[in-house]
Amino acid sequence: MKKIYIKDLQELKKSNQKFAAITAYDFLSARAIEELGFPIILVGDSASMVVYGYSDTVPVSMDEMLFVLRAVVRGASSPLIVADMPFLSYQASVEDAIKNAGLFLKNGAGAVKLEGGESVSRAVEALVGAGIPVMGHIGLMPQSINTMSGYSIQGKDFKGAKKIINDALALQDAGVFSVVLEGVPLELAEKITSLIDVPTIGIGSGLYCDGQIQVFHDVVGLCDGFVPRHAKKYINSYELFGKALSKYKKDVEGGSFPKLKHSTSMQKEILKNISENN
Ligand code: KIV
Repeated sequence: MKKIYIKDLQELKKSNQKFAAITAYDFLSARAIEELGFPIILVGDSASMVVYGYSDTVPVSMDEMLFVLRAVVRGASSPLIVADMPFLSYQASVEDAIKNAGLFLKNGAGAVKLEGGESVSRAVEALVGAGIPVMGHIGLMPQSINTMSGYSIQGKDFKGAKKIINDALALQDAGVFSVVLEGVPLELAEKITSLIDVPTIGIGSGLYCDGQIQVFHDVVGLCDGFVPRHAKKYINSYELFGKALSKYKKDVEGGSFPKLKHSTSMQKEILKNISENN
């Protein structure tokens, strides 16, 4: 399969070709995603919730992100693998940002993503200068849940919309190769998509972005409860897994699994020898 570079994403935007990106956190799903030809895999900090069981993205650490990144890298080599910089791995200093992003690249990522606009543009410039491609992420920024007071749509009023536009322009000037627009009105996403030259990748920001990104677990219905408004559950894996697991449990309890065909026999002489000596 053809290896995807950032220039290929640029081409997609130029030729008006929409693309789908998705998160992954393990070897097998990365392999399946690669086989299907997705151009981008994001090793998202949503791992914090869907892999590690934290309630939001704030607690996940560099080590925990590296653990899932390595598994994804072993599963897929063609898509551009973007590793999400976790909370406090880039905010405190530009040195931290370079050190931690560099660690992701040394472990197989092809790029990193970080949240923030103008406020992180110096870090973005330094990362790009150090040879690390950066995907921006503005609008609803889950790592800022505590200052944003929850997950609400951003940029609905003039001031908020202007700030998000300025953030997109600042990120473009700093050298990002794409920008995730999360939770902004579709008209604002359309405006930003036409204003900047790099691809916009929407999540909960409507159909006018150049690409879309979704969390793997939302698309395949692995979460039993809440499905965010921006997500579409294409299958209900939680229910399917539940049915399979419950059947397996019943089969074992009732003695119908395993059958002979699931086992291996020993040679009779060896068995006789064992019996005679024990
Ligand atoms: O961590 C994540 O899953 C994200 C989204 C943009 C999909 O950042």
